Amino acid sequence: MAGHIVHIPGIRDTFPKDQDPHAKRIGVLGLHEGRTLLTGLARARRAVAIAGCDSDPAKVESCRSERPDLAFTTDYAELLARDDVDVVAIYTPDHLHGEHIVRAFEAGKDVLCTKPLVNGMADARRILEAGRRTGRRLQVGQSTRFFEPFLRQRAAFERGELGEVELVDAHYIHRMDWFYAKSPWAIADTDWIYAGLSHPLDLLRWYLGPIREVQAFGRHSALAKQHGVQGFDIYTVQVVAEDGRLGRAMGHYGCHELPTARNAIELMLYGSKSTSQAQYHDMRYRYVAEDGSEVTEDPLYALRHHYFNSEVHGMHYGEFAHYAEHFCGALIDRTPNAPDLEEGVETFCLMEAARRAAATRQPVLLAPLLAEAGLS
Ligand SMILES: NC(=O)c1ccc[n+]([C@@H]2O[C@H](COP(=O)([O-])OP(=O)(O)OC[C@H]3O[C@@H](n4cnc5c(N)ncnc54)[C@H](O)[C@@H]3O)[C@@H](O)[C@H]2O)c1
Repeated sequence: MAGHIVHIPGIRDTFPKDQDPHAKRIGVLGLHEGRTLLTGLARARRAVAIAGCDSDPAKVESCRSERPDLAFTTDYAELLARDDVDVVAIYTPDHLHGEHIVRAFEAGKDVLCTKPLVNGMADARRILEAGRRTGRRLQVGQSTRFFEPFLRQRAAFERGELGEVELVDAHYIHRMDWFYAKSPWAIADTDWIYAGLSHPLDLLRWYLGPIREVQAFGRHSALAKQHGVQGFDIYTVQVVAEDGRLGRAMGHYGCHELPTARNAIELMLYGSKSTSQAQYHDMRYRYVAEDGSEVTEDPLYALRHHYFNSEVHGMHYGEFAHYAEHFCGALIDRTPNAPDLEEGVETFCLMEAARRAAATRQPVLLAPLLAEAGLS
């Protein structure tokens, strides 16, 4: 299997030239992480970059010099007014996603929004209402689901090789001093329960289904205190699914990384038939085979061009192309996409439950939050 991208129809591990004539045309808002999508889309058949927008003229000029074939603007209204943009892809700071999604829906665009979908209950309600009112569709850019080891792990799960998943253990750890310097909004306008924990909490929800109850604890690291970070930046979260299965998630954004021991993101699935582990940013997938042997698949060197744009470790080019291809294929074929608007709002409620549980040191039930968001 090493050397082959799994599971995303249309995606190749070389850059395809045979563009689908019905490919959806994407306008990207927010040109730091969004620039990765502009570049990454060269890998996709059914999604094509058409335009970019950022309120910072320097970002626009820098992207324009690299991609003179695309249309650029500093005015979001101008991007939304373009008839040749089918899908708006949103990569602005977390707390602006709600407003940017609603405006895109109201302009008749479908939306691809990076994680976290939103970081507040009022925005969760607004985007759900606007999506239902306008009938537009949305894809959450949960990049981890679309990274090679996680795709392989999911394919094995869907083939039944793990049996019933009885316990899910996920984490995302990353020292974030560089991020506070680059993106000061991370200090006061969001919370790491949304920004960072959105990866492991989404993975828990993906395998456990609807969650019934959450317990969580939080603390500030020395780095968070130094930068005056408002919310906690160390979290441990425990969940019980509606069907009684268990999961835990952990995040630490002030830690000193020990990457050969613990990758930034890891997902352990303990199943009735097998155990498996997927890792980011290394590209390892490990599992217990039928005869009891431990197997490691490590396609990093085979697939580094695809995922990391020829660097050994780098930005998320492959994952972003995968979720854009998945979403645009679903729009063209009129098939479901995941995670969609409703699942994204449900995962927001899980993050919010964990934030409230850590703030109050009390367990939190999901049902009242789902009702508050408008999901039941
Ligand atoms: N793995 C992943 O999928 C992943 C990784 C990193 C970041 N993200 C998410 O991507 C988003 C952006 O993160 P980033 O690291 O690029 O942040 P950033 O601060 O580096 O970039 C945000 C960009 O948005 C622009 N912007 C801000 N307000 C705007 C507005 N009103 N209109 C137009 N442009 C505006 C800024 O000028 C900036 O260029 C965040 O939500 C973050 O959580 C996802």
